[in-house]
This record gives sequence, C-alpha cells and structure tokens, in this order.
Amino acid sequence: MLSFILLLLTTLLLSGCTDKESELTLAVGGAPAEVERWEEIIREFENIERIRVRIIRQPADTDLRRQNLVLALRSKKKDPDIFLMDIAWVSQFIESGWLTEIKGIDISPFFESAIRVDQKGERVFAVPLYVDCGLLYYREDLLKEYNCGLPSTWEQLVECALRVQQGEREKGRKDFYGYVWQGAQYEGLICNFLELSAGTGGGFEDLDSQGNLKALIMMRDMIHRFQISPPNTYTEMKEEEARIFFQMGKAMFERNWPYAWKLHNSESSPIRGKVGVTLLPKFRDGDHASCLGGWHLGISIYSDKKGEALKLVRYLTSKEVQIKLARKLGWNPARKDVYDELIKEQPHMKAVLRSCEKAVSRPAIPYYSQMSEVLRKHLNAVLANRIPPARALEQARREIERLNEMYR
Ligand code: GLC
Repeated sequence: MLSFILLLLTTLLLSGCTDKESELTLAVGGAPAEVERWEEIIREFENIERIRVRIIRQPADTDLRRQNLVLALRSKKKDPDIFLMDIAWVSQFIESGWLTEIKGIDISPFFESAIRVDQKGERVFAVPLYVDCGLLYYREDLLKEYNCGLPSTWEQLVECALRVQQGEREKGRKDFYGYVWQGAQYEGLICNFLELSAGTGGGFEDLDSQGNLKALIMMRDMIHRFQISPPNTYTEMKEEEARIFFQMGKAMFERNWPYAWKLHNSESSPIRGKVGVTLLPKFRDGDHASCLGGWHLGISIYSDKKGEALKLVRYLTSKEVQIKLARKLGWNPARKDVYDELIKEQPHMKAVLRSCEKAVSRPAIPYYSQMSEVLRKHLNAVLANRIPPARALEQARREIERLNEMYR
C-alpha cells in the first residue's frame, strides 16, 4: 500500500513538473479588472491551439512593470516567454538584445506611429497590442447643470471646473474637485506634461522653451492657485487613482487613457451613463495634443518556446481578437482595419480616434527611461511647489544634455 501511495505521489509530482515545463508564460499588468479579463482571453486561445498558458500578474504602474521584466531578462530567465512592453521602453529592450525577431506577421494594418518603434531597419521585434492616447473624461450631467460648454481650452476647463467645484461644495460635498490627472513622480507625469506642452511649442527638444514653461505653470496652478486638483495630485495620482476618484463621482473632469471608459460605464459604477469623452483641451493660441502610449507584445530572447509564443502574438493581434479586446476591455485596437466596425457599435471611439490623430510620441531612444526619470523629478518638484517652473526646466535641460553627451 505504502509503495503504491509513493508511486502515486511521484507520478503526480512528475506530471506537475512536466505541466509547468510545457506552459507558456505571459506577463501582463494593468487595472485589476483587466487582469481578470486576460484569463478569459487566454482560455479561449488554449482551447483553439492546445497550448497551456500561465499568466504572470504584474502591477498597473509602467515603471514597476519595466523593473520587473528587466530583472528577469538581465538574469536570462526563460520565463516569461511573452510580455507586454510600454511603447516608451520598447527601444531599450530591442537595443539590449532581449527580444526575439518576429517573422511572418503582416505589419501593414498597424498604426504606423506604433509599429515604427518595434522595428530596427527592416526587422520587427515587437507588435503593438493596443494604442493609448490621452483623453478628457467629463460629467455630462454636471456640464448641463452648471451651464458649462464643453471646454476646448485649458482656460475654459479651469473656469468650468471652478464653477462646478464651488457649487458641489456648497451642496456639502467638501471632497469634490474640478479636475483629476496624473501628477505623481512616474512616467504618466511625462505624458500629462507633453499633452499640455506639445500643442504650444514645447516638448523634449527644447526643454526650457516658452511652451514648456506655460504648460508647467498651468499644471502647478491647477493644484496650488486654482485648487481644482487635489493636493495629493503630485504625491499619489496615477491612472488608477484618478480613475477611481472620478468614478466615485468626486470630480468634474478627468484625464485618462481609453481603458477608463469601460470601467466608468460598468454596472457597479456610480457614474454609469453620465460620462462623456473628448479631446484634451489646448491653450488658446495652441493646438490639441495627446500623448501616444500603448503596449506591445515581445517574445523573450531567452524563451524556450518561441514557436508557441509566436502563435499567441499572432492570435492576440488578429482582427477578431483585437475587436474582442476593444469590446471587453475598451482597449483601443492597434490595427486600423477594425475601427469602422467598432465605431458603429461604440460611438465614443470616434473621440478616441480623433485624439489619436493628435498624438505625440516620446523619444524612441534606448536611454529614454533615464531621460524621463530626470525630467519627472524636476516636474514633480514644481507640482510640489518646491521650485519655480523656469528653474526646474533649466536644470532638467542641463541634466538631459549631459545624458545625451554620455549616450549619443
Ligand atoms: C499607459 C500608456 C503608456 C504610458 C503609461 C504612463 O500605460 O499606455 O504608454 O507610458 O500609461 O503611465
């Protein structure tokens, strides 16, 4: 009897090992609700291809996700076989030699601005899964109640935010704010900054330009002068913090990515059906701008299941699955050829598409993360009211020039 139990245990253990060995591993992160949906999508793939996939959960924050992957890749780990990369760090991963060349995928349907980042010469090292563009979410009901027009300039946004905030506070809602956005010291702050600055002549090229100065002053003023953005904007506000704040009905406007739409309109959301979405405002004398974000699929150079991994990349970027991802998760497809169909069923996608047409890219250079770390440190110090905007931009310019000299 004892030997039978031992045999059984050994068999179970062995089959457990073999199982694990034959699994493909996929690292994904994002909002908790999104990670849940991944399980469903992957189960469908498993049924079609008969390849087992294990999902490795990562946090929502892009910086933490990057660090997590860099650790695995530097130590040449076989897992994860496939991962999602922020468009902001694809270039670094290609240059570090961490990605397997992807062959046999037709790249023509993808947004050119996104797929361009995945290429080195003619060779393709990643494929975009979805494209992100910054959007302005607003409360349709409050817009009417307070007689505000839809703001197309930052100045109009401040005016309306102040009016609604004051009105709501008079009704006893002391924790109500006019505008929530991402000001914490992380990559998202760079995106928010670019969205104010790029349309008015700012950006990475000329860091202490008038456009950048104007943008940064406005961001600081939203927190300290107009006080339409909560005091924790520069300490805590990332995508999920802003989304939850707005979704709880505590803000008039919110800056976020397309994924927030589905969640704001989910069954349990207190603001379901009351939300509108449009282009981010511009300065009176400038143009609209939105930051080009998004996540791309890459196959680790250390993967021992590259063939299976390629099947998963193909599946996830197919027309059918891209439509499914947009329906289930509100992700903005990276393929242009699915939009006609989607706009018919989800009219808000029109605003998303318009905003993507105004999207500006961050520099696609291998040391972008270092550059971003320098800039965000100075931007965040201004938001904390610790340093004047002009001085912060000048210091950022000097430090980034040093980086350029070191790496170029
Ligand atoms: C989103 C974008 C990504 C960006 C990040 C910033 O995940 O897709 O490109 O870097 O937000 O927080």
